[in-house]
Amino acid sequence: MHIIEAADYEDMSLKAWEVLQHKLPRIQVLGLATGGTPVGMYDHLIKAVQNKQADVSHLHTVNLDEYIGLSTCDPNSYYMFMKEKLFGPLGLPEDKVHLPHGDAENPQAEGKRYEDLIQSLGGVDLQVLGIGKNGHIGFNEPGSEMDGRTSVVQLASSTVEANARFFENEEEVPKTAITMGIGTILEAGEILLLASGKNKAHAVKCMIEGEVTSYCPASALQKHPKVTVVADREALSEMN
Ligand code: PGA
Repeated sequence: MHIIEAADYEDMSLKAWEVLQHKLPRIQVLGLATGGTPVGMYDHLIKAVQNKQADVSHLHTVNLDEYIGLSTCDPNSYYMFMKEKLFGPLGLPEDKVHLPHGDAENPQAEGKRYEDLIQSLGGVDLQVLGIGKNGHIGFNEPGSEMDGRTSVVQLASSTVEANARFFENEEEVPKTAITMGIGTILEAGEILLLASGKNKAHAVKCMIEGEVTSYCPASALQKHPKVTVVADREALSEMN
């Protein structure tokens, strides 16, 4: 793993953007993540596109996950989050941005459709990831299969609690989701993982220095040959 240390969230966002910017012209399929962590990097991407310093017209995007039970127009869906934070400002056409459909009649079949879609696009060239404080990547919680494919999963209670800040209250947070599996994620050509803040320090340490174990799903990334981690000092503060 290539580790890039940043001073704080702003610096992490800039450094991550610099990594992405350099690779962008060669990326056809960009894997994206929701959550608070990548938003600063997305803002840099939006600015660069608006200033004509970057071009995204060739891109397809595929997101990691979506809550089950929320339609694309639900304000709490990950689709709406992405539309507001990135797709809208970038002016990406609807047919080039992809997320699992949270309101699919058969969520298991939707997982299979999404996995097939990624294959039909030729696979993910670069996957952006955040990390949960319990070490999850996508919604692959501790105990997930380390070679799993896109499927229906239960959210850990710590994840429901962490994501409640985006909802009116914790009861509203869906308890299930469709997520790319760890096996799906590991097939990306490259991975760019971002982490910021003290509450991620333990997960970051386990990901980089711990043994590869499903107790820390992100530790699976040790098996991938091209991973860049951009993390701020607080997120790296438990490293040896
Ligand atoms: P966050 O979420 O960026 O909102 O901290 C990261 C994650 O849960 O993967």
